[in-house]
Amino acid sequence: MSYNLLKGKRGIIFGALDENSIAWKTAEKVHEEGGTFVLTNAPIAMRMGSIKNLAEKTGSEIIPADATKVEDLENLVEKAMEILGGKIDFVLHSIGMSVNVRKGNHYTDMNYDFTTKGWDVSAVSFHKTMQVLYKKDAMNEWGSIVALSYMAAQRVFPDYNDMADNKAYLESIARSFGYFFGKDKKVRVNTISQSPTPTTAGQGVKGFDGFIAFAEKMSPLGNATAQECAEYTLTLFSDLTKKVTLQNLYHDGGFSNTGVSQEVMEAFTKDEE
Ligand SMILES: NC(=O)c1ccc[n+]([C@@H]2O[C@H](COP(=O)([O-])OP(=O)(O)OC[C@H]3O[C@@H](n4cnc5c(N)ncnc54)[C@H](O)[C@@H]3O)[C@@H](O)[C@H]2O)c1
Repeated sequence: MSYNLLKGKRGIIFGALDENSIAWKTAEKVHEEGGTFVLTNAPIAMRMGSIKNLAEKTGSEIIPADATKVEDLENLVEKAMEILGGKIDFVLHSIGMSVNVRKGNHYTDMNYDFTTKGWDVSAVSFHKTMQVLYKKDAMNEWGSIVALSYMAAQRVFPDYNDMADNKAYLESIARSFGYFFGKDKKVRVNTISQSPTPTTAGQGVKGFDGFIAFAEKMSPLGNATAQECAEYTLTLFSDLTKKVTLQNLYHDGGFSNTGVSQEVMEAFTKDEE
């Protein structure tokens, strides 16, 4: 069902790699709701993924940009405004990557060059994106900027490795930059803390199958899917959430506030029955 919530709004969507990507589902949903946008991803992801299919499906153009390179971001923002015919109303930052995770380096045995690369891609890229938008005065008033996070920013999930630190950094940038974007430009900035989701980035985390199953049993409403994340994101891009800013918003079926669930208890009391 479409409510036309984003009719007339223009945006930039980072991070659609394949049809499992949260950004991919969001782009489809934004299109359904009448929004227009430019798609972007790292040049290497263009070759690996199938973003062209998404562009065709949604009538969007693709502008490659490495989100760690300010000059790429400047080019992206300028071209996006040209293509879309005006300033930007919504931005989705759906980017994450840890080289330590990829290479299987344990948290207690990090390679710090990898660590640096990881926080640049996963957290500082969000600052860079917002700084470019801010300096170019590229956002319309009451625009909305969203990045995706995970609860490992608050609680320990041992296999999440340095991505936990990257997410804490990302959420802090959302608050710090969100203050200035709010004060100076009336733009809101939030992060969505999403359930574990079977995507390329998600499945890269060691023990992913275990913790997605655990989270499913812990959450009163079950895990939130990528599609549901897209739907939630849409509300944050719409005019119905104008005063929501500087927040880290849990979209996790209730996991973050659940101490224990019946299902998890049963898994530990079987022997006694
Ligand atoms: N999958 C999960 O379990 C989960 C849970 C909570 C939050 N998240 C977050 O959601 C976001 C989207 O991830 P996803 O799960 O859809 O996986 P995904 O692998 O589909 O998306 C990650 C994207 O980051 C892009 N990227 C990596 N380096 C980049 C760079 N230098 N410049 C530009 N783009 C770059 C990749 O090309 C890819 O499109 C990430 O921030 C991720 O941490 C994922």
